[in-house]
Order: sequence, then C-alpha cells, then structure tokens
Amino acid sequence: MDLDLSCYVAGIKLNSPIMNASGVCCTTVKQIEELDESQFLSAIVTKSCTMTPREGNPKPRYYGTSSFSINSMGLANMSLKYYLKVAETFSKSKPVFLSLAGLSAEENVAMVKNVAASEQHASGVELNLSCPNVPNKPQIAYDFEAMGDILNRVFEVDLGNMPLGVKLPPYFDPVHFHQSADVLRNYPKLRWVTCINSIGNGLYIDPITEETVIHPKKGLGGLGGSFVKPTALANVKMFRELLPEQVDIIGCGGVLRGMDIFEHILCGASAVQVGTYLQENGIDGIPRLYHEFKDVMILKEYHTLDDFRGRLKTSPTIMNNKNDPAS
Ligand code: DHB
Repeated sequence: MDLDLSCYVAGIKLNSPIMNASGVCCTTVKQIEELDESQFLSAIVTKSCTMTPREGNPKPRYYGTSSFSINSMGLANMSLKYYLKVAETFSKSKPVFLSLAGLSAEENVAMVKNVAASEQHASGVELNLSCPNVPNKPQIAYDFEAMGDILNRVFEVDLGNMPLGVKLPPYFDPVHFHQSADVLRNYPKLRWVTCINSIGNGLYIDPITEETVIHPKKGLGGLGGSFVKPTALANVKMFRELLPEQVDIIGCGGVLRGMDIFEHILCGASAVQVGTYLQENGIDGIPRLYHEFKDVMILKEYHTLDDFRGRLKTSPTIMNNKNDPAS
C-alpha cells in the first residue's frame, strides 16, 4: 500500500501535515510567494495582523540559532487589508489561513466582520489569543474571562462556511488546561486550536557582551525551538483529550526534525506548524522535514496519519526504569 501523508484541518484536505507557524516567513508577499512555491508545505498561515499596519517593536527583536529562538516583534504587520489580498491571490494554489491579533476585543470583532464581508477567499481564520510581545498587553488566553468575552463576540459574527480556530499560549498547570478547555467547549463552531504559541516571556543573554540578545521589553520575548517541544506536546495531548472530536488540534512547538512531527501527531495533532526551524533554515529546509517524517512512517510501517494519530501509550511497556532517581 502507498504512503498517504494527507490530513484534514477543519474539513480542509491538506496534502502534507506541514504548514508555517504564523509570524515566520509570512509578513510580506515576497515571503509568502516562497511558502506558496514549496510543494511540501500544505497551507499558508499569514502573519498575525491588526486592522492597520504596524512597525512593531524596535530592533533587534529576533535572535535565533539552529535549535532556539527568542522574539519580540511587537506585531509588525502590513494590515488586515493586505492579508485579505494575499488570501485572494494565493488561495488559488493552497489553503490560506488568516491570523488575526487585534489589540482589543473590539478590534478582533471588527476584523472578523471584515473577513466575513470579504469574498471569502481565505480558507479559515486563526484568531491569535496568545501574542506575548505587545508592551502592556496581557496574553488574552491566560485570562479565561477575557477569552470567553472575545469568543462570545467573535462567534456572533456570521462567517458563513469559513472555519475559525484559535492559537493558544502554552499552559503548564493541569488546572489551566481544564479551565481553558471549559471555555472553549462553549463554542460549537470552533474548528481547531493551535498549541502552542511561543513560551513568553523568557530572557536570553549574551554572557560575553553582558547584553540581552533582543532589546524591546528589557530583553524579554517569546521562546521557541527544541526545548519547547515537551510543553507543546503536553498541550496537544491535553487539548486532544479535553476538546470534542470536531475540534482539530494543530501542533506547534519544537518541530525541527521529522520525528518531531511524528510525536505531535502521536499526541493527537492533525497537522503541525513550523516556526524556529523555518525561520533558521528558510523554505529550503522543508523538504528535509517532510522526507524525514515520511521515513519515520516507512520505518514504523504506518501508511496513513490515522494509523497513529492520538495513539500515544501512557502506561509504560518497560517496567524496569533504571533512570528512576529513587531506584
Ligand atoms: C508576535 C508574536 C507572537 O508570538 C504572536 O503570536 C503574535 C505576534 C509578534 O511579536 O509580532
């Protein structure tokens, strides 16, 4: 039997489980053209936008290595109008998800209304409830009442058939997984959640120069890269368990190798988004990810993503754990 790497998000068929994470290589038309040309990226997510263009935070506002990144871009974006045009142009070749990150509930509602009134070129809206980088603005999804308030208002807008998902920040406490899911379960029209946004707010320093590597917000910013993967996987797994089946989970965080994609899907993700790795390697890094993932499936003799999605085993098959600190 042939290998089939296709998957579905919100009922939309994707020919590979790999898409970009919002914010990476998706701010300008030139960058988006490159995403469009990559046959292994199955969808485009646009830069989280506001109603009007923003310059964002002062530079340097991004620092990355092959395994790690910190950013405080401050929502530098070209405006909703610009990304609506992007959706019109690029949705002819692959699905385009519009990421919206209004600075207030009113702005989010106004943008969703704008999308609803547009000619429905976008394949879906990813409402970002988790930007960690706007000075003096908290991450909405850490305030469950504010999150419910925004979602009440957003889901009142008639988006027709256009699906809407949300991008969540990482949660770390089981109580918070439950509290967040309790809010999200109130919205039967919610079609996916993306777990996780970068881990805010970390500090990375250069001990040689004794400086922070980015400068806005006293050097604090959102962390990405390999070490966020365990947090991302915990969020994917918990939301897969806590949300109804019709809400897909998009895994995001620590996808640097094909095996990372496999792990996200094993925890229940329908597809994955790639941030730090894409930023550091550019679009040319995507075929390697795809082929590594395909090789994992061949090695494990899986034919489709459904063969292993969400099938993580949680009772150990190895009883004698030599790494147990108490044994
Ligand atoms: C920015 C960062 C984020 O993690 C996000 O979700 C939205 C915007 C930014 O700094 O531009």
